[in-house]
Amino acid sequence: MRAGNPPNPYTPGAGDRPRALVGRSDQLALAESVRSQLEAGYSANSLVYVGLRGVGKTVLLKEIADRLAGAGWYAPYLELRRGLAVDSALASVAERGAAHLRPGAKLTRQVGQLLRRGGGLQVLGSGGNLGASRNLPAYDDLARVLASLSEAAREDGLGVALVVDELQAVTIANLGALVHVVQDLRDRLPFALIGAGLPHLPSYIAKAATYTERFRYEPTDKLHDREARAAVVEPAAAEGVSWNDEALARVVAAADGYPYFLQLYAFEAWQEAARSGAIESIRLADVQAAEPVAQRQIEAGIYGVRFEGANQTERRYLFALSEIMGGAADQVRSGDVARALDLKLSAVSPTRDALIRKGIIHAPEHGVLAFSIPGFRQYIERRRADEG
Ligand SMILES: Nc1ncnc2c1ncn2[C@@H]1O[C@H](COP(=O)(O)OP(=O)(O)OP(=O)(O)O)[C@@H](O)[C@H]1O
Ligand SMILES: [Mg+2]
Repeated sequence: MRAGNPPNPYTPGAGDRPRALVGRSDQLALAESVRSQLEAGYSANSLVYVGLRGVGKTVLLKEIADRLAGAGWYAPYLELRRGLAVDSALASVAERGAAHLRPGAKLTRQVGQLLRRGGGLQVLGSGGNLGASRNLPAYDDLARVLASLSEAAREDGLGVALVVDELQAVTIANLGALVHVVQDLRDRLPFALIGAGLPHLPSYIAKAATYTERFRYEPTDKLHDREARAAVVEPAAAEGVSWNDEALARVVAAADGYPYFLQLYAFEAWQEAARSGAIESIRLADVQAAEPVAQRQIEAGIYGVRFEGANQTERRYLFALSEIMGGAADQVRSGDVARALDLKLSAVSPTRDALIRKGIIHAPEHGVLAFSIPGFRQYIERRRADEG
């Protein structure tokens, strides 16, 4: 890029905060209502945002955590992984969350005390792995710590929120224990769980715990046309750069409302425009030149990674799925996939479930399956053709 051009304002990367977070006002308003309900002394439902990979759950959660922290709350953002349960995740971020607290607030003193003692949180980090009982010992500690923080917050007129990403990644025992902690606290203290996960998360939570009617599931979907345009135009406008109509239309069509693709195509189009000198506007030619570059990255980084991560049985399942779709349909009945593989539904369901857990496919309705990432069906078709 020639010196003097503004920095590329697009953010194509998992969890990378966009310059313009568009189309999420309903989701943000819900989080805001949880805050005001709890501050007024009412209880509030836990909020869980569900959506496919790459639609923007993480950046939404980070925005919510920031806004809560800005209002004085203790609201650490935690990302779970298999093998990393809520308690250990919290122990590792406690200090970061503490940095934002209001000087002089009871909540601040309480968090400070906890950190100085190290005790509570060290105990927290020590366990919470698999176990048959719902009250895993580490979760009892977690409940105690959160209760003492929430009591202090109540005296300040504030609250505590655990902002937890990838909720579907933990074991069912850990999830059940977490839900139990949440249910116990939410009725008596200003405490909320605000989480996110893949579309199968609601049924996973229902399996993990009995009383989950106080979870509010909120979809996080692809962006509508107007929002998609704003996601592309606004970051450039902030740098004094405009998009030509045809260039914008082409990026929006290529990305199909999928936030990660919007960022990627726009990023590469900006790179092209910057190569030819000082950027004033981004033109159709820039987008056309950027497309193969973006597509190569999608092939290698998105489709390829997922395909390579699938075992032979899972690949056969994906091939069957795309074959039944026949290049036209977006959805198939899972029974038809089993039939095509000449197997009983019960025999293929572990494979189907594993692919759902990986975020490669999802069930838009009961018994119906679809690929979860735009363009992945076509990629599987090409791989199927390659393997003859
Ligand atoms: N509302 C939005 N407006 C503009 N860009 C967005 C928006 N939401 C997400 N993005 C962009 O989309 C990409 C994916 O976002 P994010 O990592 O939050 O998705 P995710 O749903 O958490 O995905 P995963 O399930 O893989 O974790 C990032 O490049 C981000 O900058
Ligand atoms: Mg994410």
